[in-house]
Amino acid sequence: MARNNPKKHFNVFDEPVCVGRPNLVNRQEFMCMVNDILDRRWYTNDGKYVKKLENELGAYLGVKHCIAVCNATIGLEILFQVCGLTGNVILPSFTFIATAHALTRIGLDVKFCDIDPKTHNIDPNLLEKLIDDETSAILGVHVWGRPSKVAQIKKIAARHDLKVLYDAAHAFGCSSGNTMIGNFGNAEVFSFHATKFFNTFEGGAITTNDDELALALRSFRNFGFLGADNVGSLGTNAKMAEINASMGLALLSHIKELVDINKAHYQIYKDRLSSFDGVSVIDYNPNEKNNYQYVVLELDEQLAGISRDALIEFLHDHNVIARRYFYPGCHKATPYHTRKYSLPETELLCGKTVLLPTGNSVNINVVSEICNLIQHAIKTQMRPSE
Ligand SMILES: Cc1ncc(COP(=O)(O)O)c(C=O)c1O
Repeated sequence: MARNNPKKHFNVFDEPVCVGRPNLVNRQEFMCMVNDILDRRWYTNDGKYVKKLENELGAYLGVKHCIAVCNATIGLEILFQVCGLTGNVILPSFTFIATAHALTRIGLDVKFCDIDPKTHNIDPNLLEKLIDDETSAILGVHVWGRPSKVAQIKKIAARHDLKVLYDAAHAFGCSSGNTMIGNFGNAEVFSFHATKFFNTFEGGAITTNDDELALALRSFRNFGFLGADNVGSLGTNAKMAEINASMGLALLSHIKELVDINKAHYQIYKDRLSSFDGVSVIDYNPNEKNNYQYVVLELDEQLAGISRDALIEFLHDHNVIARRYFYPGCHKATPYHTRKYSLPETELLCGKTVLLPTGNSVNINVVSEICNLIQHAIKTQMRPSE
């Protein structure tokens, strides 16, 4: 099928318009804190901004303990270690590779479970078949900030005496029912990486309502120190620095504004792109909180008449850096690919997703232009003579 030269029809954006470009708000507020950090010469180690961020995040999420860390990957690793996980852990393959790598790096075996195509999260109905004598935990991922089936997972885990942990990297500001994510399982781990709508350059946080676990995590995050000259356990350096915390604080006071921007962009994409056969923008439950940081197009190649990869290439040609997530799935990546898995829904979804730019690095005009491009690509591929 001949592909029209898209550049005849549309202007190419001067600068790349990317998925995951960081949000920026209130530079002055941030710089004020940076100057204070420099003036006081207190850069890390339980500084005032890390403590303030932990308190404010804990209050926002309604969770007892919030432990800031240098990034979510290390946060996951220290959580697994402090929880004393052994043997294997069940997780979805439809996630960022860090979820699986964090387990593998500390010597745990991964058992990939297929997803529910409606939620894109682990399918709880498949969990019990995977549990064996060596399983110590279920690790759910709230993909796109849409909550895992927390109640069902809790019941299954209780039946088999397993820990439940969540990779909540996508899910800051999201809820399951009326309860904010951050309160589920034994603990949850958020990512505040620069690509996340709420970021601390690099960073993350572990949240839990378990006092003992929180204490152990705080100590493990700081080399196992219990107090000066008193090392009570193994540990590592997983601390967040003051400058990272100050970025978080600067953004936190604008969190509603950032979600509103994401939501407005999401609504434009949804309105403009949902009327084509084989094309849908994923839904968010209006009765739950979501951060709307992910605009996820699912493209059924047969019905839409254009392949997912052709659409991405077309967008890249116009400097719109759309992305395929989580292609090709963790189970197809090294070192996991040597085993055989049956993950049909995961594989189907990995071939369908297109993530589109949002956040405050773009505006509604840019979003509308991107919609024009996508509409054009779909229409011309379906009817090449047009
Ligand atoms: C689902 C998921 N888990 C873990 C991570 C790792 O987070 P970090 O970059 O903070 O280590 C990411 C990062 O994008 C992610 O998307």
